[in-house]
Amino acid sequence: METQSTQLSPERLSTFLKTRLLGRLLEYHACIDSTNIRAKQLASFPEREGLVVIADSQTAGRGRMTRVWQSPPGRNLYFSIIIRPDVPPQTLPQLALLCAIAAHKAMSKTIPDHHFGLKWPNDLWSEQQKKLSGILCEGVMNGAQTSVVAGIGINVNGQSDDFPPEIRNTAGTLEEIAGHPLDRTEFLAHFLNSLEPILDEWQRAQSLLPFIDYWNKFDCLQGKNITVQDSGDFKKGIAKGIMHDGRLILTTQDGELFIHAGDVHILKNG
Ligand code: BTN
Repeated sequence: METQSTQLSPERLSTFLKTRLLGRLLEYHACIDSTNIRAKQLASFPEREGLVVIADSQTAGRGRMTRVWQSPPGRNLYFSIIIRPDVPPQTLPQLALLCAIAAHKAMSKTIPDHHFGLKWPNDLWSEQQKKLSGILCEGVMNGAQTSVVAGIGINVNGQSDDFPPEIRNTAGTLEEIAGHPLDRTEFLAHFLNSLEPILDEWQRAQSLLPFIDYWNKFDCLQGKNITVQDSGDFKKGIAKGIMHDGRLILTTQDGELFIHAGDVHILKNG
C-alpha cells in the first residue's frame, strides 16, 4: 500500500531540493513510454537545462545495450535529467560515472550502515551483489552544443520477488536493505542535491580526478577477476580501478588495458 511518503510527489520534491538548477524545472508523468525519449525531445532548448522528467511508470523503459528496463508503477524511480555540460565532447561519457557516484551518495545518506558498491561503468550494487540502479546517458546534438540526457532507474520499494523471474536473482531494492519502504520523493531530492555539486566540480576539473578516491573506496570490482564484453569482444583480467577519464584499468595476461565501454561480469573465482 502506498502512503503519502512513498508516493512520488513533484510538489514535495521542491521542499527537499537545495539545488540551483537541477530539478527546478520538472515534468511529471504517471505513465510514459520512456523518460529518456521525452527528455531528448526537450533537450535542444537551452532554457530547459536542469529539467527533470519523472515518471511513476514506463511502458518502454530502456536500459544499456538495448535491454528493457522494468518500470512498474508505485515503487521505483525513473527519471531523466537534461544536462548541458561545459566540457569537450570526448569527456561526456564520464557523466554516467558521476551519476553513479551521486546515486551512491544518495543511497548512503538514506541507509548509512550499508556498504553500497560502485560497479563500472555505472551500476550500483548492494552488499548482496544485487543491482539496485541503472544509468543510461544519451547525447543530443544541437549545433555546437551537445546536451546529455541522463536517465536513471532506481529500484526503491518492493522485493526481489516482484521482479520477473529472469532478473529476480540479480536485481534488488532499497526497501529490502532498509527493511521498510522508502520515500521516493526525498530520495530523488538527495540524488539531485548530490549530483549538482559533483557536476560543478567536474566542469572545473574537466576530468574525474577529484572523484577517483571516492570511486576507489566503493569500487566493488577492485582486484576482482572479471570479463568485459563490448559488442562481441571479450577481455579477461583483473580490475584495477579507473583512469581520470573514466576508462577501466584491466590487468590481463598481455599487459594493462584501458577499457572505454563494456559490460562487466565478475568471474566465479573472482
Ligand atoms: C541500465 O541498463 O542499467 C540502464 C537503465 C536505465 C533506466 C532508466 S529508467 C529512466 C530512464 N528512462 C529509460 O527508458 N531508461 C532510463
